[in-house]
Amino acid sequence: MSLVVKNEIINQVTPNNMRSKIVAGNWKMNKKFDEADELLYQITDELNNNPIDNVQLVICPPSLYLELATDFADASEIKIGVQNVSEHKSGAYTGEISVEMLSSVDVEFCIIGHSERRKYFAETSEQLANKVNNLLEFGIEPIFCIGEQLEEREADKHFEIVKKQISEGLFHLSPSEFSNIVVAYEPVWAIGTGVTASPEQAQEMHAFIRGVISEKYGTELAEETSILYGGSCNAKNAKELFSNTDVDGGLIGGASLVAKDFIAIANSF
Ligand code: 13P
Repeated sequence: MSLVVKNEIINQVTPNNMRSKIVAGNWKMNKKFDEADELLYQITDELNNNPIDNVQLVICPPSLYLELATDFADASEIKIGVQNVSEHKSGAYTGEISVEMLSSVDVEFCIIGHSERRKYFAETSEQLANKVNNLLEFGIEPIFCIGEQLEEREADKHFEIVKKQISEGLFHLSPSEFSNIVVAYEPVWAIGTGVTASPEQAQEMHAFIRGVISEKYGTELAEETSILYGGSCNAKNAKELFSNTDVDGGLIGGASLVAKDFIAIANSF
């Protein structure tokens, strides 16, 4: 995409503070049961000592620990999410977990389209769109992940890629359905690498994403959409990243496994 077209899209939207600030922890495939239990206790302690203000905290543990986590959530302002859901509604799909099951244990968010699932489990845009539809039917908010690989950024294709991912996965939704979506921009080259997008790179892409949403659904809905940054976000760099107008919080991997760091990130606005 030419710079002119990109800037036109970015400039269509004037950011404001209508949307929710969200910090979500993606535990990925980490922690044994006792460790998960301990981490939840530590997060509760940290929250008591350093209360967060006006930020929605979400924890996405492995599904095996959902009941444990929702018990903690009941006693705090934390909400519980998951890392994946089956695209099928029910039946003979060995090993899968349905959206109805998640809903029955009070799950409120679900990460969809994480680059690790796109890469290692070959998830397609069509599958992701189906998952989004199922989640919305049961009132669970998708945290829809998009982001380019390093080669794509180097080839100056990052805007094009991100626009394609969001269009294919989400733009079949009606405006009222889309209003339940949280978007997470996670450049693949920043995930688990210790290389964070610069605040300028994050703001540029988030503003672009908001512009793309605005083109499809109008400025008002675009302004109300929370767009999170993910990729080596930690207690040290969160403040600078979150100070950008279009960065509404973070989807945190490694640093969400350390209670002190996770709550420090949530206190970085
Ligand atoms: P890291 O924070 O470990 O880079 O992971 C980011 C991520 O993939 C969150 O979904």
